[in-house]
Amino acid sequence: MEYVLDQLNGSAATSDSDEIHLLRDADERARAYTATIAGRRAWPAREALGVLSAFKEDFPQSGMTAEDTLRLLDEVGSPATSASTGPNYFGYVIGGVLPAAAAAERMVLAWDQRASTFDSSPVSDAIETQAARWILEALDLPRTAGVGFGTSATACTIACLAAARRSVLARAGWNWDRHGAKGAPDVKVMLPETAHVAVIKALRILGFGLDNLIRLPVDDAGRAIVEQVPDADDLTILCLQAGEVNTGSFDHFAKLIPMAQARGAWVHVDGAFGLWARASSSRALCDGVEEADSWTADGHKWLNTPYDGAFAICREASDMATAMSSEAVYAPASASAQQNLTLEFSRRARGIPIWAALRTLGRDGLRELVDRNISQAQHVAQRLRAEGYEILNEVVLNQVLVRAGDDDCTQHICRAAQESGVAWFGMTRWEGRPAFRLSFSSWRTSQENLNRLVELLVGLFRDTKV
Ligand SMILES: Cc1ncc(COP(=O)(O)O)c(C=O)c1O
Repeated sequence: MEYVLDQLNGSAATSDSDEIHLLRDADERARAYTATIAGRRAWPAREALGVLSAFKEDFPQSGMTAEDTLRLLDEVGSPATSASTGPNYFGYVIGGVLPAAAAAERMVLAWDQRASTFDSSPVSDAIETQAARWILEALDLPRTAGVGFGTSATACTIACLAAARRSVLARAGWNWDRHGAKGAPDVKVMLPETAHVAVIKALRILGFGLDNLIRLPVDDAGRAIVEQVPDADDLTILCLQAGEVNTGSFDHFAKLIPMAQARGAWVHVDGAFGLWARASSSRALCDGVEEADSWTADGHKWLNTPYDGAFAICREASDMATAMSSEAVYAPASASAQQNLTLEFSRRARGIPIWAALRTLGRDGLRELVDRNISQAQHVAQRLRAEGYEILNEVVLNQVLVRAGDDDCTQHICRAAQESGVAWFGMTRWEGRPAFRLSFSSWRTSQENLNRLVELLVGLFRDTKV
């Protein structure tokens, strides 16, 4: 190896022991970062952002050393991270990273497997097959469903909706693979007005056309109003959601899914974070969701696995396997190989940290994680309401939607909280007006962190009144 690298770049020659030394250095730096995560600013200090210009270097003619590259990455990069794996981060729905998942990810990086077929990585195939089984058990979905691991709920939604269209057209006698869109029967897509942009993006990319989508009127929690959902037919795809991004609400699955399926429609459920409620004591929120035809959910949100890990699930595994099939003469694979279930032909073993999280949490730990975050959201909502904040949603899940008096005051408080570094959360719009959104999804967040958050918000609200 030394010889080969010498040939490539004499000055940057690396021996095996240099490689291990470098990895040890990286690991020590990574461990120091993790060890200090609880005390880190939730959002970087102004000075840390200022020195990011250190990355604006000219592309070097001859390569810099790996040691120096790592030093720059850590010394300039680490202080400019948002501490989203820390306990004081309440933005988006990001979750932390469970220790077992982080450790498994380290192994995955060392293995660097093409986790697409048994032939390219027997171990990835075995573990991802097991992870897929446990996901179906944890979410209590049909045990024979197909599970494809993808980068994100967005990518997995593309896979599910591609399978949906191909299947409803096949039932109508249209071969999508051979004939494509030209002359194809019209497929009608219905989705709530509040559907996540990821679903809309998937539909747009797949060529459904934004103007052709039927947007369903929603109630004050963002759920499709059952009585106002038009009749479906056997060329309809109905997209519903488990966990509306602002309110955390759930569509009325038990009514809407059988109604649509009785007319031959395909029902897809976006459960990026909310589907995990199925594994909690609040499971009743998603009663009936198991009857859908496809589902997407993320590991990297509420399961607290590292980015990027998500999955697409199809009731009929063959629907996904045919839609996503990528057979190559030089890479034969079974229909259940990940190569034939996801968008990527080659990818890393993103199901392995998911497996590690599920194995170490077990059913009880998973339920406790989700239950704890839900009760944290309810606790904070109650305390903020008592302090004069307006809580805009019924807090059934892990999302709290907040206003503080008028719009300027709400925006000011959110900005001031972000700049404080004490906690981080983001703005949204609800019913046409600004609001901020607190999301509880980290295994690290404790009562002490909730107290800090409430104290911060109470103080900022008080300041606006003087
Ligand atoms: C409800 C919902 N659906 C889909 C997505 C997209 O997920 P991803 O970021 O994994 O693509 C999100 C992300 O926040 C979400 O909250």
